[in-house]
Amino acid sequence: MVERTFVFIKPDGMQKRIAGRIVSRYEEKGLELVAIQKLHITRAMAEQHYAEHKGKPFFEGIIAAITSAPVVAMIWEAPDVVAIVRLMNGATNGALAEPGTIRGDFAANFTDNVVHASDSPASAKREIGIFFPNF
Ligand code: CDP
Ligand code: MG
Repeated sequence: MVERTFVFIKPDGMQKRIAGRIVSRYEEKGLELVAIQKLHITRAMAEQHYAEHKGKPFFEGIIAAITSAPVVAMIWEAPDVVAIVRLMNGATNGALAEPGTIRGDFAANFTDNVVHASDSPASAKREIGIFFPNF
């Protein structure tokens, strides 16, 4: 069944100037780009996006990181796209992510790990509602 996921390239990925390479990886995998926009995430959007992590020790750090500079937000579509993109992105901690994954190849720590992707179809729907209300 066709599914959608929400992805954004975090400010550290933008600073590394690898946005195009990341988009290419998803395209080469055969995923369909539905929407793409560069934007500066507000504090309110960031808190809503990471609401599940409120109160955790890394919460303030990740909010500060994703609001520090513009990101590129996207919707991707394909059968099983949520799981496929999570696999392609790799483990959360870039230091432990497998080489060959996006985080494994481009990140070396926990907070600045280049890319976000939804962890379930329900999360994707919620996150798309925050960033792309018309989709
Ligand atoms: O992004 P992902 O779904 O893989 O991980 P998460 O557990 O939902 O955490 C959200 C984000 O918070 C991560 O991508 C990291 O940037 C950050 N984080 C962190 O800085 N330190 C942790 N111990 C866990 C997460
Ligand atoms: Mg997550």
